[in-house]
Amino acid sequence: MSRVPEISASILNADFGRLAEEVARAEDGGVDSVHLDVMDGHFVDNLTFGPVVVESVRRHTALPFHSHLMISNPLALASRFADAGSDLIVFHVEADDDVDAVIAAIERSGKRPGIALNPPTPAEAVLPYLDRVDLVLVMTVNPGWGGQPFIAEMLPKLRALDAERDRRGSSVRIGVDGGVNLETIGAAHDAGGDVLVTGSALYSTPGDLAPTVAALRAAAHAATT
Ligand code: DX5
Ligand code: ZN
Repeated sequence: MSRVPEISASILNADFGRLAEEVARAEDGGVDSVHLDVMDGHFVDNLTFGPVVVESVRRHTALPFHSHLMISNPLALASRFADAGSDLIVFHVEADDDVDAVIAAIERSGKRPGIALNPPTPAEAVLPYLDRVDLVLVMTVNPGWGGQPFIAEMLPKLRALDAERDRRGSSVRIGVDGGVNLETIGAAHDAGGDVLVTGSALYSTPGDLAPTVAALRAAAHAATT
């Protein structure tokens, strides 16, 4: 089945002092969505931002917002990220709250749920929820920081989820997050990744991002044609 790669800009490595401009730079560069890495300093060893930042950036672009919640208590906070303007709210299967309850809370907020899994977590952990979410986000780095190397050992997990998706005839999208760049995006897309999150590979480029986005998209396409 041919799949269209979606390039999603992770703003974690952008200049936070000029966040609206940095999002505009990605939008002008032709990305398909914005990936917002929310970290609580507990689920992961880093602390980034909350709904107030999502709401502020929301006023500057119409691009779809994917809020990636690396937090221990998504049940309590999901609706606030919905109100702030997220379109897709992705939480971790390893978080403390009941997964079905978090999915239901996101659905009640009128937004779309997604579920993420860390490198040590097997694909089986998310299979019970595959038909209830829009996106399964496979972490290809241990979450917490941008600029880390891609963990190629995650490719079999992507293939397993892709095969299960085909077996079920499911329309769930598969996301790949961490270390996605010109060298790794082809393998990530070929293994089943549709939503390809890229941070440092994008924001390490000064100025116009269009050539970088075009090169990333071409490298993904080249791997499956
Ligand atoms: C890491 C985040 C990723 C990260 C991606 O915990 O979830 O979204 O920002 O950045 P790169 O592409 O630099 O690995
Ligand atoms: Zn992320």
